[in-house]
Amino acid sequence: MQMLGVDIGGSGIKGCLVDTETGELIGERHRLVTPQPATPAAVAHTLKALVEHFQWKGPVGCGFPATIHNGIAKSAANIDKRWVETDAAHLFADVTGLPCHVLNDADAAGLAEMRFGTGKDRKGVIILVTIGTGIGTAVFVNGQLLPNTELGHLMLEGKVAEHYCSDAVRKREDLSWGRWGKRFNKYLARLEFLFSPDLFILGGGSSSKLDKFIDKIETRAPLVAAANLNQAGIIGAALHAAERTAEQQ
Ligand code: BGC
Repeated sequence: MQMLGVDIGGSGIKGCLVDTETGELIGERHRLVTPQPATPAAVAHTLKALVEHFQWKGPVGCGFPATIHNGIAKSAANIDKRWVETDAAHLFADVTGLPCHVLNDADAAGLAEMRFGTGKDRKGVIILVTIGTGIGTAVFVNGQLLPNTELGHLMLEGKVAEHYCSDAVRKREDLSWGRWGKRFNKYLARLEFLFSPDLFILGGGSSSKLDKFIDKIETRAPLVAAANLNQAGIIGAALHAAERTAEQQ
């Protein structure tokens, strides 16, 4: 089945058609700049422009950087505060005229990695961590997602973890990969203390830089890069739309 998968982020809104049987992208990915301020109405109109770019007429899957309960955003850490309590699924459907299925962006990336990537056919406890402006997490137990875990908001060294070791912090504080890696190791150690995972999967832009800081990572569970690197969010959003569509039929 073909689906349009969209990854809504603080700086870009990226989409691509996805073959949900194989997890492969069909054609070119398209990226639009996230409008500022990223109000619900402005983001919905950018999503509409993305849908029109693909001339897409089917269901749309959207990864979104907030906790999502039945399509409704319940948090807004790195996005406009007006998103809290916004029914993103209904808003997107109204503006695009298409059925839209919304889930947390890290959960979307996790779904893609578990189905087609590094977590494929793996049992046990697996935690995917995406590093970008914020830190997103997706927790799986024997392949089953525990949604909306938001472990980027754990407290670490007196700070919210994503204010201590996100990629935005690395850039802002001009940290070397080594120094940032030590911080990230502390973060993973905390996750390991709490959840004793069997595997950590690293998503987001930093996953392609893993070799620059892997020597700082001392957790018992191995840390491996996401197979789909930056595309996992798009692929997982498309998968989510395919699953929801199948459930409704
Ligand atoms: C948000 C999460 C999101 C993560 C990655 C965090 O600030 O709270 O919902 O998954 O950023 O975008």
